[in-house]
Amino acid sequence: MVSLGLEDKVIVVTGGNQGIGAAMVALLQELGAKVAYTDIKIGEDTSGALAIQADVTDLTSMEAAAAKIEEKLGPVYGVVANAGITRDNFFTKLTPQDWDAVINVNLKGVNHTIQPFISGMYERGEGSVVCISSISGERGNVGQVNYAATKAAVIGLVKSLARETARYGVRVNAIAPGFIDTEMTRIIPDKVKEKIIAEIPFRRFGKPEEIAWAVAFLLSPVASSYITGEVLRVNGAHHT
Ligand SMILES: NC(=O)c1ccc[n+]([C@@H]2O[C@H](COP(=O)([O-])OP(=O)(O)OC[C@H]3O[C@@H](n4cnc5c(N)ncnc54)[C@H](O)[C@@H]3O)[C@@H](O)[C@H]2O)c1
Repeated sequence: MVSLGLEDKVIVVTGGNQGIGAAMVALLQELGAKVAYTDIKIGEDTSGALAIQADVTDLTSMEAAAAKIEEKLGPVYGVVANAGITRDNFFTKLTPQDWDAVINVNLKGVNHTIQPFISGMYERGEGSVVCISSISGERGNVGQVNYAATKAAVIGLVKSLARETARYGVRVNAIAPGFIDTEMTRIIPDKVKEKIIAEIPFRRFGKPEEIAWAVAFLLSPVASSYITGEVLRVNGAHHT
């Protein structure tokens, strides 16, 4: 019997309360990891994971969450920077507030998520970081100039950080999901959804679990030990 080697590894997922993050929390627990998740809103938790209210836009809040997680679960092996938001509009209608909100969560939030854990990973000589980018960051998307800019920036962050962390045995990768069926995409009007689906060779949106499996693969010290600085596209062949 082989395994992904995630048993008893402490893994932190941001934005784990719903959607793709919640699917990761569930799967990683099934794979035997000790999982903690953070979110700005913590619902009624049935996952059994350690749930902590923390805002990725606030470094102090993330540092406090990190300290609590390490105290309760032990040294963190895996970090998944998943929390993200959209504030979609045509470029001429995007307000400075729409820009700031998206940059604060989707870009600065990724930095605030990784910073509290990275030195410990260096000291232990192991660790895996996965950042959730997006098809929009590579392909661009109408109405998502602000969002796409942050998701492209995350790819630059991952590729640079991977070069810095390699000497410490720490890997850093990104996943670029295509359109996934979550609250984030439920707001897309049906007519627009139909057009998007017609462009996807698989003719459907992805499921949160399909991203969760890709995350498990990239976290795995067994399955992806020689992969770093990569962008894994999970998009039903909806390529650029
Ligand atoms: N759904 C898609 O089609 C899709 C496609 C590509 C990439 N993504 C990315 O995947 C990730 C997860 O998206 P999702 O579809 O599950 O969205 P979602 O809206 O269902 O879930 C996002 C979660 O992040 C949390 N969150 C928002 N702001 C936060 C903050 N400041 N601090 C902490 N938590 C915060 C929310 O409360 C929520 O639980 C995001 O980074 C998103 O950009 C989604």
